[in-house]
Formats: sequence, C-alpha cells, structure tokens
Amino acid sequence: MALAAYDLTGRTAFVTGAAGGIGRASAVLLAEAGAAVHCADRDADGLDGTAVLIKDRGGTARVHVLDVTDRPALNEAVRSCERLDVLAAIAGIMHSSTVLETRDEDLDRVLDVNFRGVLYACQEAARLMLAHGTRGSIVTMASGAIDTGGAGLLCYGAAKAAVVQLTKTLATEVGPQGIRVNAIAPGWVRTPMTDRHDREAQAHTEAAMARRTPLGRVGEPDDVAHAVLYLASDASGFTTGQILRPNGGVTMPW
Ligand SMILES: NC(=O)c1ccc[n+]([C@@H]2O[C@H](COP(=O)([O-])OP(=O)(O)OC[C@H]3O[C@@H](n4cnc5c(N)ncnc54)[C@H](O)[C@@H]3O)[C@@H](O)[C@H]2O)c1
Repeated sequence: MALAAYDLTGRTAFVTGAAGGIGRASAVLLAEAGAAVHCADRDADGLDGTAVLIKDRGGTARVHVLDVTDRPALNEAVRSCERLDVLAAIAGIMHSSTVLETRDEDLDRVLDVNFRGVLYACQEAARLMLAHGTRGSIVTMASGAIDTGGAGLLCYGAAKAAVVQLTKTLATEVGPQGIRVNAIAPGWVRTPMTDRHDREAQAHTEAAMARRTPLGRVGEPDDVAHAVLYLASDASGFTTGQILRPNGGVTMPW
C-alpha cells in the first residue's frame, strides 16, 4: 500500500452482506489493504466465492454463514474475531410497497434485516472494541433513500433512516474511547439487488438513473467499497458520525 493511512495490515475486519455486490467488493478491498476479513452472509455459496477472491489475491478470509437477524449467531461470529478493528455492516434487502399497501409483515421484515441486523452487529462489535481498548471503525450502510421520498420506499427508507440515527448516536457514545462510526449512503449501484433480470428493462432503468446523476453514470460496487476502505482506515481518523454519499451527485444535502 503506497499510502500508509489506508494500510490495514495486522487489522481484522468483519463484513456482513459479504456475498453480495457491495459487501463482496468491500471485503475484497479491505483484504487487499491488508486486513484479515471475516465474511458473513446467509448465502453460503456467495460467501465461498468472496473467500476465493480474497485468497486468490493473497488475503486472509474466514466465512460465517448466518442470518444477521439471529443475534446469538451474529454475536458468536463477531466474538470469534477476538480482536476487531473494523465492522462493515452491509447486509440488506430491498422492499417496495406504497404506504397504503404496506403490511405489518413487510415493515417487520425490512426493519429486522436492515435495521436490527445492523444494530446487533454494531452492538457486539463496539463491545469487543471497548473490551480490548481498540480504536476501531464501524461503517454502516444507509442509502440515498434517506434523502428522497421515493414512492414505495417507506419500509426501506425508514430502516435506513434508523441506521443513520444509530450511526450518529453510537458515534457520540463511543467517540470518547476513540471508536469512529460512520454511514455510507450510496446512490443507485449495479448489484444483484438492482438487477431487473431483463436486459432491456435493466438498460432502461440504468439510463434513467444516469440521466438524473451529474456524473452521468450509475454506481459500481467498487465506488462504494472505496468509501468503505476510506472510513475503515486511518485516512478518515478525524471523521465520525458522518454520512458519506457516493452517489454521482444525485443528491447534495448540506
Ligand atoms: N445497490 C444499490 O443501489 C444500493 C444503494 C444504496 C444502498 N444499498 C445498500 O447496500 C447494501 C448492499 O446491497 P447490494 O446492492 O450489494 O445488494 P446485494 O443483494 O447484492 O447484497 C446484499 C447481501 O446481503 C445479504 N443478506 C440479506 N439479508 C440477509 C440476512 N438476513 N442475513 C445475512 N445476510 C443477508 C444477501 O445474501 C446479499 O449477499 C444493502 O444494505 C443495501 O440496502 C444498495
């Protein structure tokens, strides 16, 4: 690594959603920066794929097949790190329903995965960092949905807004111990989550997204992974409680 502040050699990272588009790219990049990476997801085959990519690049990976809503399983996996420097809580699901059509079970499922799953990981990671006096970094995954009122995004947006609140609250509480907590709110990124499984429909959606974006393109998983690496590393050593928006400029809140 040419720039020492981005070097994670000797550090351990735990990444949830590590079988998916953004989680995999982030796990691989953290490993390339030198971290030993614990990869967690409910998708066992996808996790194996991520571990192979990391090992092919000379990195160290350990996989944990789990559901992030299963607190005991998640706690056990996080604690298996013994010492933890970085948490990237990336696992999430998409859901779309209008306010009037939203059922209790939709809200419960999305809040369970996209908020409680992040909360559980943050709690156990912070406990581990505090126990060892580690001045670690916690990165959560919000979404551009926090800045917009997109139709159908009630459950998803509410969960992501809750992630932002968790991020700011935890940053305030553990900042004095040197633990940093930041969120990333990406714009539209090309991943399995945004795959429309139809070439024409995909091209149409991507073109529409690109037109709305000052940089004139949609995001790639690596665009977000680089934000994860920045927030995970000493390069962001004076940054906490913030929301980083790799979104091509599609929203520009103060
Ligand atoms: N792709 C985008 O445009 C976009 C934009 C903004 C935010 N995000 C957020 O980024 C994160 C990653 O999304 P992605 O686009 O890479 O999606 P993805 O579907 O490719 O990856 C999500 C991963 O999370 C895992 N997962 C889902 N529920 C889980 C559970 N209960 N337990 C364990 N693992 C679970 C899935 O198996 C999958 O591997 C999500 O939190 C998403 O909300 C994505």
